[in-house]
Amino acid sequence: MIKTLFPIETFKHCETPFYYYDLELLKATLHEMNACIKDLPYKVHYAVKANANPRILHEIKEAGLSIDCVSGGEIVAALAAGFKGDTIAFAGVGKTDKEISLGINHDIFCFNVESLAELEVINEIAAAKGKIANIALRINPNIDAHTHEYITTGLSENKFGINLEQIDMAVDKAMSMPDVNLIGLHFHIGSQLLDFTPYKMLCDRINDLQDHFEARGISFKIINVGGGLGINYENPNENPIPDFKNYFDTFRNNLKLRKGQELHFELGRAIVGQCGSLITRVIYVKNGTTKNFVIVDAGMTDLIRPALYQAHHVAENITSSATETARYDIVGPICESSDKFASDETLPLTHRGDLLALRSAGAYGEVMAMQYNCRNLPSTQFSR
Ligand code: LLP
Repeated sequence: MIKTLFPIETFKHCETPFYYYDLELLKATLHEMNACIKDLPYKVHYAVKANANPRILHEIKEAGLSIDCVSGGEIVAALAAGFKGDTIAFAGVGKTDKEISLGINHDIFCFNVESLAELEVINEIAAAKGKIANIALRINPNIDAHTHEYITTGLSENKFGINLEQIDMAVDKAMSMPDVNLIGLHFHIGSQLLDFTPYKMLCDRINDLQDHFEARGISFKIINVGGGLGINYENPNENPIPDFKNYFDTFRNNLKLRKGQELHFELGRAIVGQCGSLITRVIYVKNGTTKNFVIVDAGMTDLIRPALYQAHHVAENITSSATETARYDIVGPICESSDKFASDETLPLTHRGDLLALRSAGAYGEVMAMQYNCRNLPSTQFSR
């Protein structure tokens, strides 16, 4: 088992807070994932939105993954990291003309199209450039992923994708357009899924849709089922690598791929989530009347997930050797009560100057950092 070991002596001299990335764990995770899909017609696009750090992108590119971008900025970051245009899937409900142009200029693998209006704009821009843009239609399958409401995306009340009622019209329209090439169907139902039942339902829905289109003489080169595989936030040491095998098996056993068809995935969190920790220093310990507070120098500006999604990241005191423990609320310095990392977290007796690691922060951590209160963005350290 790969367990993240923190170079504590080095850390003691570093300015905090910073993100620490365990590149060995990242590589082991990529290796395990690649091993699971080795002999299958499966392709994984790494979802850059989870972590766009150039060192991380470099490792992911070296492991041979394709890439999933949701903005022009992410396309630029992917190209800068060495990903080729023909590995880029470009998703997002609000792609601007400028972003679409950028994608077409780089002959990207595919636009995941989220509306009929967007389809028309892509066709127009491609025509003006004398090019043909590959597209997949993002379908909203109306399946509940049973995850946090902010990261549920596949219900008809969500803004994402083309509704099932409009899909025939969208397919007909795409096929009638001279400057787009319809290569597939795309789906994404939500993020941080640990129960795979919604994926089974998604497979059923896709099988029905493929039957429907086959009866109309229409077939697709690719099916893209998006991302969403969750990680174990409660036990990062015991479960450093997500359950890729069961995840891919769920699709292998339930989705009827057609002859020659490729299945694409867009995984973010599962690849980078466990390799990152936010390292922060205790500024003060304050004993209140009902609570003891550990006040650290990282805040919601560095890691917003607890404040935004009530997410829990295990906190480890990595410098204390005390055997006695106490319960603390771990809070940051920002002027908001939502600036709290944990309530009643059990830690060894903690003192000013101790270092805490907020674990499982490799995904949607550094990328979501902001400068509220005129704070600096967190810096980064790597395991080598
Ligand atoms: N594909 C699409 C179309 C997506 O919208 C997303 C995530 C992914 C792939 C990658 O999903 P993943 O494999 O990472 O679950 N900031 C939130 C998560 C937002 C996810 C947005 N979409 C968090 O911190 O939990």
